[in-house]
Amino acid sequence: MSTATAKVANVKTPLPGPRSRELFDRWAKVEAQCTGYQAKTVWDHASGVVVTDVDGNKFIDWTSGVLVTNVGHCHPDLVKAVQDAAAKLLNNYECLNAPRVEAAEKLVSVLPKHLDKCFFLSTGSEAVEGAIRVMKRKTGKFEIISFYGGFHGRTYAALTAGGLPGPKKGYGPTIPGAIRVPFPYCYRCPFKAKPETCEMLCLDYIDDAVRANSTGSLAGLIVEAYLGAAGFIFAPDGWFPRLEQWLRARGLLYTLDEVQSSFGRTGKFFAMEREGLTPDLVCIGKGIGSGPPASAIAARGDVIGVLGQGEMSSTMGGNPVSSAAVAAVVDIMKREKLEENALRIGNLMKARLLQMQERNPYIGDVRGMGLVMGVELVKDKKTKEPAPDLTRKMIDVAAQHGLLIGSVGIFGNVIRVAPPLVISEAEAHESLDIFEKALSLL
Ligand SMILES: Cc1ncc(COP(=O)(O)O)c(C=O)c1O
Repeated sequence: MSTATAKVANVKTPLPGPRSRELFDRWAKVEAQCTGYQAKTVWDHASGVVVTDVDGNKFIDWTSGVLVTNVGHCHPDLVKAVQDAAAKLLNNYECLNAPRVEAAEKLVSVLPKHLDKCFFLSTGSEAVEGAIRVMKRKTGKFEIISFYGGFHGRTYAALTAGGLPGPKKGYGPTIPGAIRVPFPYCYRCPFKAKPETCEMLCLDYIDDAVRANSTGSLAGLIVEAYLGAAGFIFAPDGWFPRLEQWLRARGLLYTLDEVQSSFGRTGKFFAMEREGLTPDLVCIGKGIGSGPPASAIAARGDVIGVLGQGEMSSTMGGNPVSSAAVAAVVDIMKREKLEENALRIGNLMKARLLQMQERNPYIGDVRGMGLVMGVELVKDKKTKEPAPDLTRKMIDVAAQHGLLIGSVGIFGNVIRVAPPLVISEAEAHESLDIFEKALSLL
């Protein structure tokens, strides 16, 4: 864990610096320009929470890539595990390799007891596709309930289950059988209700939606542990347990998408541990490899056991290098107690962000837990009109002062506060000072 106390951020050039600019120009000539809005800098190397760009500028990172590098950028033990594995064997498809067995044992050892099996794939979307396949195959039914604002990836079952326009607008029909219902986005409740008095009427609404839309072929439901891409939106306490009761009462399968909420991000190893949730299937990605591409489905053995020989596999899934990364990440997480650090530093950071909210006219909402928090920027706190332009400006101004942030949100107006889980108290305060300064310059 980092114990740095000296200031680490240091930006010496206007962004993009000359070397970054040259690379951006070359890149625009040869690769499709379809990625999202990011700080104008080209990363060169990184360690812990500090990123150095190709011009030698140093930044504190609040992005972790996109909530990937949970154990810190280039953790030496992870780098060594990957290097050692790569030197021995790079890919052997479905023939078994020892790192895959070790990774599976380690993953199952940290899962809640009822999830006694896993299966390795490469990306979050692939894990989501796989979980949806299992729900359909196990029940022989095809309808899947999912949520407004949900993001599960850009492949077809994943984007069908999603509830954001980005991945599907302009791409024609989605897969039949999707029933989408509102998630409790209490800051902007779709029912205009108040969380103190609403009695979670959004849950009751699921019955209405099913009655109106189902052909009688409900297989199950997929939901994120919190809505990530929609703006780090957390359900109120008690909502998930009630959702789970609702599913159990109807005999439906339940997939929790923990692609970004797992591996310590919320201050627990898995977000499902907070309220003792017992999903049948869990999608895991991002932090599980903390860099190298790796993902997994975790499942109850009797559910995923429906798949027979040859029914699920992937060219890269379970490859020795990614598997070695997964095993190393589990060890690092446990040894360094990173979920505890996420909770402690997250509480400290949230307290300061809430103080900033009181003073600043643009911070409409601060929410989240552990090291995943959203700061929602608005033009006016009363009307809550989203401020996506200000959010982009904030990305640029913060970067120029040494802090890397990204944006999410249904309206593109939520700043992601998601540093690697190794962040120290000193780094947290330094980065918050930069954040506050950048806010004052908007
Ligand atoms: C909750 C969730 N599910 C699935 C995905 C898709 O993961 P990937 O981009 O690795 O396919 C993401 C990616 O951001 C995600 O946040």
